[in-house]
Amino acid sequence: MQTRCIKIDNITASKEALHFAGELIRHGDVVAFPTETVYGLGANGLDAEACRKIYQAKGRPSDNPLILHVANRSMIDQVAAKIPEKAEKLLAAFCPGPITLILPRKSIVPEQITGGLSTVGVRMPEHDVARALIAAAGVPIAAPSANISGRPSPTTAESVLVDMEGKIPMILDGGACDFGVESTIVDATGEQTVILRPGAITKEMLEEVLGEGSVVIDPALVGADSVPKAPGMKYTHYAPKAPLTLLEGMPTRMARGFRREVARLQSEGHKVGVMASHEVLAELKDLVPADMMADYGPQGKLPAIAANIYEALRSFDEKDADVLLGEGTTSEGLGLAIMNRLHKASGFRSIQA
Ligand code: TXA
Ligand code: MG
Repeated sequence: MQTRCIKIDNITASKEALHFAGELIRHGDVVAFPTETVYGLGANGLDAEACRKIYQAKGRPSDNPLILHVANRSMIDQVAAKIPEKAEKLLAAFCPGPITLILPRKSIVPEQITGGLSTVGVRMPEHDVARALIAAAGVPIAAPSANISGRPSPTTAESVLVDMEGKIPMILDGGACDFGVESTIVDATGEQTVILRPGAITKEMLEEVLGEGSVVIDPALVGADSVPKAPGMKYTHYAPKAPLTLLEGMPTRMARGFRREVARLQSEGHKVGVMASHEVLAELKDLVPADMMADYGPQGKLPAIAANIYEALRSFDEKDADVLLGEGTTSEGLGLAIMNRLHKASGFRSIQA
């Protein structure tokens, strides 16, 4: 299959291409498209056979449910049996935006895409290309991140092409994604509101709407020995091809810690790739060749780091580094989402700087 990549700079000027992409979705095909978080791999969310193609293209385990992308409130009512009061508040505060709400599902949603669960994840993206595509398709669009299962999520059309070339007919190229980490998944159906996957909508932001102390993070995400409530969170994920180890600790200790580790690994004969802040990389120039460095942004600038981590990790896949070192951030605010992805990308291998 040939994969067409179509640049969408302007919704009005690209009306025909969007109409065509909507037709593809309606006819059961898969189209990759940008959202404000990461690129998605979309298919008609009410068509089990179309969604089967998503699982196939990604190599995704069939028990890992897909989330549905909607353009408006009436599409939510089409797929959700009920919207609990707390979910209603979150909807008003954060939608459209980088949040996915877990809601009781209606039977119109095929059980093949919800992994047999009685709930469905619903997300109303803010990105104008995503919104235009959903409108053109006229159906809720099921879309996981557009990577091969287990790999870092793509935040550019080029990275989607690397993973999906020859597997899907079309990629809509809307440029780089703003947030760079996937949506915050929130289950507000029970007594307690639970974050199943941290993202750009932070615990603090949710508590501003629902009340202080009313939101918890799924204990499985922060080290507890239990199964995560979002089935996808139990899999290895976001991993670059070479093994990654994180350096964690005080920002002021980072450069020294990196120098020590890089020197140790190099003395063992390794080709070391480093993903870190401008500040740390500046201190490594005499040790690490420029093409073995990936700059993820200024130290402590969490939005910039979130936007860059997946592309930075992917940048090593075409290079011959055989081990990678990455700089950890704080776990406060948006740092929780960043560190969640980095811990998974590293298989929880980390050392103190
Ligand atoms: O930002 C995003 O959410 C991106 C863009 C494309 O919208 N999508 C995305 O989808 O990250 P995906 O499939 O890569 O991640 C969705 C996560 C998975 O971990 C899945 O297990 C979980 O959501 N999930 C889906 N439905 C669920 C449900 N009913 N209950 C609990 N977790 C669910
Ligand atoms: Mg994913």
